[in-house]
Formats: sequence, C-alpha cells, structure tokens
Amino acid sequence: MRKQIAAANWKMNLTYQQAEKLIDDLLALPHQLNDNQQAIFAVPFPYLQMVANRLAGKQNVFVAAQNCSNKKSGAYTGETSLEILQSIGVNHVVIGHSERREYFNENNQLLAEKVDICLSNNATPIFCCGEPLSVREANEQDAFVAKQLQESLYHLSAEDIQKVVIAYEPIWAIGTGKTATSQQAQDIQAFIRKQIATQYNDAVANNISILYGGSVKASNAKEIFSQADVDGGLVGGASLIAEEFNTIINSLK
Ligand code: PGA
Repeated sequence: MRKQIAAANWKMNLTYQQAEKLIDDLLALPHQLNDNQQAIFAVPFPYLQMVANRLAGKQNVFVAAQNCSNKKSGAYTGETSLEILQSIGVNHVVIGHSERREYFNENNQLLAEKVDICLSNNATPIFCCGEPLSVREANEQDAFVAKQLQESLYHLSAEDIQKVVIAYEPIWAIGTGKTATSQQAQDIQAFIRKQIATQYNDAVANNISILYGGSVKASNAKEIFSQADVDGGLVGGASLIAEEFNTIINSLK
C-alpha cells in the first residue's frame, strides 16, 4: 500500500537557531499521522542530527538529506556520502531536485547512480522530476518526464523501484506562487503511474508514492492531495512556516 507523504524541503534557508525553533514549533502543533501517512523533513546537512534527535521516537516522521554523493567514499572534498548520512540516522534523501539539475548540472545518468547508492543501502530516494516552462508551453511535458524516469529509474528491478518516492515538480511552479492546477497535477501523475505500469506492472505502479511539488501551501494542499494519483507533496516555501506545514500534514489523505 503506497504512503501519503508531506515532505518539507527547507532548501538553503534558516540559521541553526531558526531551524530549531521551526521544528519545535511544528512538533508542538496537533497532527496525527496514521501508518499510511508520513512527514519528512529535508533539511540542510548541518541540521540533520539536530532534527533527527527531535524526531527520535516519533512515528511516521523522518529526516532527509537534500542530496548525497554518487560516490561511496573517498577523496571527494565537500561531498557527503550516503554512508556518512546513515551513520547519523538519515535514511531518506532528495535526489535530483530541479535546482540541483539546473545549478549543479546533475543529469539523469548521475541521478541514476545516486538512486542506486540509496537503494543498495536501503535508504529511500525521493526522486524529483518535472519540466521547465518552455516544455509545458509546447505541451511536451509527458515525453520530457518519461525520459527522466526512463534514464534514472527504469534500470531498477520491480522490487527496487517500489522503494523510490517520486516527486513531480513542474519547474515553472517552484517558488513562483504559480501552482499547477490540481487537474494538471493529476493528469501528469496519472501518466507517470501508467508509464511505470507499462514498464513494470499495475501492482508495482500502484505501490509507488507520487508527490506533487510546486507552490503547495496550506490553502491548496487539500485540493491537490485529493487527486487520485497525488500522494502528498514536496513543499518548499510553505514548509518554513510551522502552522502552514502543519496544515499541509493534516491535509494528507
Ligand atoms: P515551493 O518549492 O513549494 O517553494 O514551490 C517546492 C520545491 O522546490 O520542492
């Protein structure tokens, strides 16, 4: 049974003290996650341990890194390996966010390697995909996203691909305040699921959580999450405000 997930992506925001306050404020607010639901916090590397400590013992709540190296270990100055992350209890990693693709030249091949490193160590990759505005305007988003999935995920076994969380994030909706309509999100996420069903089978496709990301906020989360193929959201800006993100958690199906 696939999970419904509210994932916060703090990006490169907040000082340590602000981060402590945000997580404490959030945890003090009322939310209930059943076993079908999860909240995940993708936070800057220096805050992972602090957030992990705050979340210890809580059910269905996890800390995530925003990136990891495609290398196992060694002389890669400035990189952080999955092994390093796991040694402080981090078992979820956002892979291939559009900002990493755009500003740090991460391509589908490199992301396939990062997905592999996660899965071979039993960590959960939250794999991001999504098209830029020019592609949406040409109505070529389906083919664009299909290629991202093909090149980064379809080498996986049927068993392994079910361990990936997919986040569909149209780049034109990230941080712009311009949300895809819930119908646009549903259409392409149904397409993604159908592609996976064709590549693998229906049972595999139905077992994979597909999140929507791009200007999700408290006021639109319920409507977006109500769509059949939207299993929650990856949330940037609105995850920096405790009440906003708590409402988003409480909007999960
Ligand atoms: P946003 O960011 O919610 O601020 O649009 C989403 C994301 O980049 O994951």
